Amino acid sequence: MTENDGNDERKKGSNPKKLKLVTFTGAAGLLGLAVSFAIFAFKSHKEKSKKKGLPGCDTVCVNLSAKEILELADEIISKSTRIHDTVALVPLNKLSYENVVLPLAELEARQLSLIQCCVFPKMLSPQDSVRRASAEAEQNIDAHILSCRKREDVYRVIKIYAAKGESISPEAKCYLLCLVRDFEQNGLNLTATKREEVERLKSEIDELSSRYVQNLNEDSSCLFFTEDELAGLPLEFLQSLEKARNNEFKLTLESRNVAAILELCKMAKTRKTVAMAYGKRCGDANIPVLEKLVQSRHRLARLLGYAHFADYALDCRMSKTSTRVISFLEDISSGLTDLATREFSILKDLKRKEEGELPFGIEDLLYYIKRVEELQFDLDFGDIRQYFPVSLVLPGIFKICQDLFGIKIEEVTEVDVWYYDVRAFAVFDSGSGKLLGYFYLDMFSREGKFSHSCVVSLQNNALFSNGACQIPVALLIAQCAKDGGGEALPLGFSEVVNLFHEFGHVVQHICNRASFARFSGLRVDPDFREIPSQLLENWCYESFTLKLISGYRQDVTKPLVDEVCKTLKRWRYSFSALKSLQEILYCLFDQRIYSDDDVDFHQLIRSLHPKVMLGLPVVEGTNPASCFPRAVIGSEATCYSRIWSEVFAADIFATKFGDGHPNLYTGLQFRDKVLSHGGGKDAMELLTSFLGREPSIQAFIDSRTTYSL
Ligand SMILES: *[C@@H]1O[C@H](CO)[C@@H](O)[C@H](O)[C@H]1NC(C)=O
Ligand SMILES: *[C@@H]1O[C@H](CO)[C@@H](O)[C@H](O)[C@H]1NC(C)=O
Ligand SMILES: [Zn+2]
Repeated sequence: MTENDGNDERKKGSNPKKLKLVTFTGAAGLLGLAVSFAIFAFKSHKEKSKKKGLPGCDTVCVNLSAKEILELADEIISKSTRIHDTVALVPLNKLSYENVVLPLAELEARQLSLIQCCVFPKMLSPQDSVRRASAEAEQNIDAHILSCRKREDVYRVIKIYAAKGESISPEAKCYLLCLVRDFEQNGLNLTATKREEVERLKSEIDELSSRYVQNLNEDSSCLFFTEDELAGLPLEFLQSLEKARNNEFKLTLESRNVAAILELCKMAKTRKTVAMAYGKRCGDANIPVLEKLVQSRHRLARLLGYAHFADYALDCRMSKTSTRVISFLEDISSGLTDLATREFSILKDLKRKEEGELPFGIEDLLYYIKRVEELQFDLDFGDIRQYFPVSLVLPGIFKICQDLFGIKIEEVTEVDVWYYDVRAFAVFDSGSGKLLGYFYLDMFSREGKFSHSCVVSLQNNALFSNGACQIPVALLIAQCAKDGGGEALPLGFSEVVNLFHEFGHVVQHICNRASFARFSGLRVDPDFREIPSQLLENWCYESFTLKLISGYRQDVTKPLVDEVCKTLKRWRYSFSALKSLQEILYCLFDQRIYSDDDVDFHQLIRSLHPKVMLGLPVVEGTNPASCFPRAVIGSEATCYSRIWSEVFAADIFATKFGDGHPNLYTGLQFRDKVLSHGGGKDAMELLTSFLGREPSIQAFIDSRTTYSL
């Protein structure tokens, strides 16, 4: 849990920075095409190259050539331009839902899959030329989308239509608000001078945040240690290090090296030296950059009508205001303090036994957690891995999802894919037998493939005014390994958890029946987006699930034994209070710097650190302000969102799924009352209606207290 690396794949979940999903937010709402366009475009592509799409779903085309991608991108842009022109030219006295909102909404729905077909190969195609074409197409489409969001003529039409206050459905109203906001976040309702200022600030922000990240990427600081100073590290680790003068080892400060030292190195002094150097990276360069960046962000937010940047970033999220985020974090922090104090005293005792009366520092935390865990849990993760062959885990996950959410998953063969081992599946409603959607599974890592796990939307659910509907298509990207002979290797336990998590996104995507593409698929409140996945993770710690998905490599009829299953559940919560406090610390730091003017970063971390971390001071001279990229790009002012969803997923699980057995009745209720509405309704209201009360943090605190110690 090195919160300042942000390289935990699971945290990135469905929404890594690079995915087009992010760019779509808002932008695609403005793209309009003639209704027939999408179908036309793909029919022509299909005839040319005899492509085999998913049955009944010819809008998703996944193995386009470089040439086809570039042509399609051009078509997307020119049709979009034409439709924008048409909307802009509707006479102001004739504006109606049918000629302003509907064309934009329907064609956003159709366009989303076309854009994705151009853009996702960048991450997954085995062919270099295709990846390059896809990246180029993406750039062109992005630039086009941005230019659409700045079109005054279209904005004026939408704004005037909105002011008429016609009676339309709640979801349509919500969509209209989003359309208006897309423009206004670009300053379109401001005077020309202020709009220029918005432009200037946006490019300044881009420039500063990339400089910050670049400084970190280019940081080459390193440390030198003798073999004795690295006592405790495994031989393979030492062998991976460069040897320097005097036979010393050269340690570069990459997060995996640092994590290894902090977890395994027996020498307190080495841990401290490394923690200090790691936390001081780019101190001189990046702190002034962040100061300037925060100010520019506040200025931008104020121009757009917000009190400060955090409120701007939280607009349209469950949390809504910075005040609420801060009290949420503080409440969890105080709720966990007792437990964390007990956890901490165990660590301090062991340190005293091993090192005498030296003070305990934050740099000792991971090392002693690891030591105590080795003593407390008889878990050999290398051996446990032998119990999770893909051939059991995957059908096991399918079965849990099916039993829980009332769906049926069936493989679809003989369809186009972009790599030979990619598979496609259809998802049906098990009650009615109705086809709900599809997903592709690109499960194994390979050279040139995007290197994180995530779920990408290839097509979102949508209903059209002519009665036609478009079904959701998701793409799950995982990073499981194969051996030299191309056989799937068994999965590590964390990979199993990760797969459950990603399947949570797939289920969410496919069960989202919102009729606007803007609100379907994974386009839901980002504070809500991780909740279904976090929820599903709970099942992989239940004994009956573990038995279902495990089988020893040499004899798959032998699942994990009860003892190991139970230990895994306890292990899940081991030192969880301390780990959560550490995350909360960084979330608070992030939230504070973006919700107040002129925050003194040094002062802030000096007071926050001991307050949250049970009196432990920040490592001398270090400051997350210099090396905390998540708070700069990607999760700025929203770092809290991960723990937010973890907390409410724990509430849902404890309150509604009690004993952990898949309960179809409750699962269907969750599907119906929460998932099916997607982003078209306030997520807090949905959860409240499902739970029968407002979501609470109590179950999260209680679950940790119950299972720990
Ligand atoms: C522009 O729009 C924002 C957001 O809708 C609003 O808060 C602000 O008051 C508007 N400004 C003007 C000048 O209309
Ligand atoms: C994808 O299309 C290319 C031609 O553009 C073809 O050579 C390749 O075999 C196809 N890939 C798969 C996995 O079908
Ligand atoms: Zn996720």
